[in-house]
Amino acid sequence: MAVDLKSVLVTGGAGFIGNNFVRFFLKRHGDTEVINLDKLTYAGNLESLRDIEGNHHYHFYKGDISDAAFVKRLFNEWHFDAVVNFAAESHVDRSILGPQVFIDTNVRGTMTLLEAAREFEVGRFLQVSTDEVYGSLGSTGKFTETNGLSPNSPYSASKTSADMLARAWWKTFGVPALITRCSNNYGPYQFPEKFIPLMIINALQDKELPVYGDGKNVRDWIFADDHCEAIEAVLENGRVGEVYNIGGGNEVENIELAKLILAKLGKPESLLKFVTDRPGHDRRYAMDSTKIERELGWRPNRSFEQGIEETIRWYVENQKWWHRIVSGEYQNYYKLQYEERPSWSNLRKG
Ligand code: NAD
Ligand code: DAU
Repeated sequence: MAVDLKSVLVTGGAGFIGNNFVRFFLKRHGDTEVINLDKLTYAGNLESLRDIEGNHHYHFYKGDISDAAFVKRLFNEWHFDAVVNFAAESHVDRSILGPQVFIDTNVRGTMTLLEAAREFEVGRFLQVSTDEVYGSLGSTGKFTETNGLSPNSPYSASKTSADMLARAWWKTFGVPALITRCSNNYGPYQFPEKFIPLMIINALQDKELPVYGDGKNVRDWIFADDHCEAIEAVLENGRVGEVYNIGGGNEVENIELAKLILAKLGKPESLLKFVTDRPGHDRRYAMDSTKIERELGWRPNRSFEQGIEETIRWYVENQKWWHRIVSGEYQNYYKLQYEERPSWSNLRKG
């Protein structure tokens, strides 16, 4: 191991990828103290971490990454060897309906963490970013790390800003920042507003599956555990100041994916419903992961066929986990799905 990790701060560890990462990391690093800082927004869920609550190396703090005084106290208490920043507002649709919180958390929050990392001389700062910073592809080609940045949604603009802050804090202050940019994740514990869990859960309940536009937008799907393994590789052995792309190598059209889920659950295609498109909807993402493969020997382990089976099975077997969410506890979820989306067509002027 290139770095000695006695304590690692994981922000956003109660969210989808964060909780998978905390579990994965504790398993692989038995002696490292893992500190999870999470605000517990609508997307944060401690139920997802019940199985590791008793682990003496795991410590949870409820707090906001943009609260400078709180963040400073936490860094002063732990003197982290590394920070992995997952904490974010992550849903593109919500960023269209209410961008402010995306700036507060994704931009100001990241800067607050970078400032603390600077003051307390953290050994590694890994900013978890996204392929969406590159914008949209046509029908051919893949994003490499040298592509220009062209974010199209308030969400991706806020993530791009955070990447630029991480870069600047490295160049100007020497904060040892690394950036990973990953494609679309799927797997257990994903909040049911996102495409794959939404389609599975709606199909299980015989509800319509809302497909945006013509359904031919393409995403490059990666199983969350494969993303976690890539982050671990970059955290331990990545070159400071560098960007690493992470892709699943599984490009699928949304409509094909929705049909696949229906077929696996034995549900009819009549449940598919084409609805108003997302404004600024990126057409296609595809990641070139050559750099991380060559430099760090990382490769995704799960085939899409395996991963989607496993994911569907998880949602079938863990209805209690998602039922609490879709049964009305999170009003926002339903508002977004059924009431607010039709107004999208009026948002874009010109
Ligand atoms: P998520 O929405 O499931 O989880 C986000 C977590 O961050 C939640 O637990 C939430 O409570 C927490 N959080 C939000 N605001 C906070 C704040 N101000 N302070 C502290 N905690 C806060 O998101 P996810 O899908 O797990 O994504 C995690 C990270 O990975 C994000 O940075 C996202 O941009 C990035 N990413 C996601 C994907 C994907 O496909 N889901 C792909 C590439 C990159
Ligand atoms: O590419 C990485 C990004 O993937 C992450 O940075 C984001 O945090 C994550 O939310 C995800 O963004 P997407 O916008 O690609 O994911 P989402 O699940 O919202 O949508 C996937 C595709 O499915 C997209 O083309 C829009 C479409 N879609 C989505 C929903 C919610 C539908 O057709 N119907 C829907 O109801």
